[in-house]
Amino acid sequence: MCGIIGYVGAKNSVPFLIEGLKKLEYRGYDSAGLAVIEKDGVRRIRAVGKVAELEKAALLAHPQGCCGIGHTRWATHGKPSEENSHPHTDCSGEIVVVHNGIIENFLALKEKLLTLGHKFQSETDTEVIAHLIEENLKHVRAATDEERLFRAVMRTSNELQGAFAYGVLWSHTPQQIIGVKNQSPLVVGIGKGETFLASDVPAFLKYTNKALFLEDGQTVVLTPQSAQVYGMDGKEAKVKPTKISWDQKTAEKGGYAHFMLKEIYDQPQALEDTLRTARADFARILGLKTEDLRKIKKVYLVACGTAYHAALVGKYYLENFAGVTASVDLASEFKYRTIPPSKDTLCIAISQSGETADTLGAVKKAKDLGFKRLAICNVLGSGLTRACNSVFYTHCGPEISVASTKAFTSQIVSLYALAIFLGHASGNISQSVFNKLYKELMAVPKAVAETLNIEYDVRHLTRKVYKAPRFIFLGRNVDFPIALEGALKLKEISYSCAEGFAAGEIKHGPISVIDKGTPVVVLMPKNHLFDKMLSACQECRARGAFVVAVTTPDGKAEAATVTDKQIVVPQASEYLQPVLDVVALQFFAYWVAKRLGRDIDQPRNLAKSVTVE
Ligand code: F6R
Repeated sequence: MCGIIGYVGAKNSVPFLIEGLKKLEYRGYDSAGLAVIEKDGVRRIRAVGKVAELEKAALLAHPQGCCGIGHTRWATHGKPSEENSHPHTDCSGEIVVVHNGIIENFLALKEKLLTLGHKFQSETDTEVIAHLIEENLKHVRAATDEERLFRAVMRTSNELQGAFAYGVLWSHTPQQIIGVKNQSPLVVGIGKGETFLASDVPAFLKYTNKALFLEDGQTVVLTPQSAQVYGMDGKEAKVKPTKISWDQKTAEKGGYAHFMLKEIYDQPQALEDTLRTARADFARILGLKTEDLRKIKKVYLVACGTAYHAALVGKYYLENFAGVTASVDLASEFKYRTIPPSKDTLCIAISQSGETADTLGAVKKAKDLGFKRLAICNVLGSGLTRACNSVFYTHCGPEISVASTKAFTSQIVSLYALAIFLGHASGNISQSVFNKLYKELMAVPKAVAETLNIEYDVRHLTRKVYKAPRFIFLGRNVDFPIALEGALKLKEISYSCAEGFAAGEIKHGPISVIDKGTPVVVLMPKNHLFDKMLSACQECRARGAFVVAVTTPDGKAEAATVTDKQIVVPQASEYLQPVLDVVALQFFAYWVAKRLGRDIDQPRNLAKSVTVE
């Protein structure tokens, strides 16, 4: 994720750009930049760090221009640095571009542009857009420069593959901004004698509540007086303005009451963004060292908290698909274990922040033991990514709520992708099995989107149980770690006692805590373990538990015979079912905490990133 802003009107654009970027900082904050059209051309200012750093630089440089674009970055291609910060320019420095998303074919385009003599200044995928527009401008004819730029942008968009939104300025058209949307967000704000372009409404809500929400494939041409939208065919499209009724605080959360809820809803996009790069990234990670990786017989997964639960799921994947023995350690414990050194062992460290001290400590130990180290991480350039030999990024954007949701599901799909690519590279799974598994994986974002429809049912159900002093979560096999995650989520944000167990274990002790009305949430998708889960439900119910089934459509009727409530999620393949099941538990935790009036995004005693041991 990154944030885009644009302003064209009668006033100096810079204060609007800085203010808008601050509102978009939740989308990324490793560097920021802006460009305005001044009398003698484009003026560009960029700074590493938060928008406050850009603001300081802008105060010193004092740029002035009524037409400008800005950007706050969450690095995907190229480290956070001034050269990689947006806006990016063409060779002439007359065209500037800000961009959010990923241009999948940027390497091929860059090669083509290099042979045509273009000179690049950054490692980003964005810069190809500016050079492509420059190239296309040479080939289009029109009566005005405004029309020429529009045509060149249309041609450029046709050449780009991936999910993106971008904004363009050209010094020859000082009263015009062009915006393009394709699978990344882009909104237009219509003020009086001024128009705005932004990744999200809060960026301009202080100045106007009249917004145009663009559709994928649309291009918008902004002037101080107008915002004209065009379809992919270049024909004008009619888009009705929407009156935004949110206040500023609500708007920052995309209209949701809390960042946690927004991030639960972000999951289909987060998973899609994570999976978009999986094939190429794992080919790079695995391809470089196939020989070494073939020798790997043992994998240690290390992580903390929610990431540890993702690691537990990953163990099933690695053993099942890649055929390697995997063990999972809490990072804080791994450091104190006696483990034999080895060159043919891989340590996979999983972390949203990449700054968790315990995980960094575990990776240091893995290095001392001679293990190869792979990070699965969400933050580019973080300590963990520097401490490992290779990195796979979960592209789920900044996670603001302390309770992790979208990072967790992104980590699970990353581990699944890793396991099937590794299994394929090592010959453990055939091409046809790989194809089937890959296809199922790519269908997950859509299935998660469908799963989000259960919120109403979960919300309704929590009315009955939210005051309970303790909760039990049960799962089995690959859903066992999901039971642990459901319990962690609930205790983090509701402060209620919650424990997760493997369903087969309750009879060995935990069942004694169940008494009348104890809520027991049972993960029981219809699969080969369904009958075992029915027995677990009966055992709990016989002790007076209030049993909630998280099941799939085919399991609902039977589950209803032994449970008090049923939450129905879509059916996925056995190993991907956890990604859907956990969504039910995220909503469950959210609604219990909400009914208890807890501080959901910043629960007591917790921090988003735990950088101390
Ligand atoms: C739970 C949660 C924590 C983190 C843990 C590791 O919702 O957020 O348990 O998962 O502190 O953090 P990262 O993934 O940043 O290493």
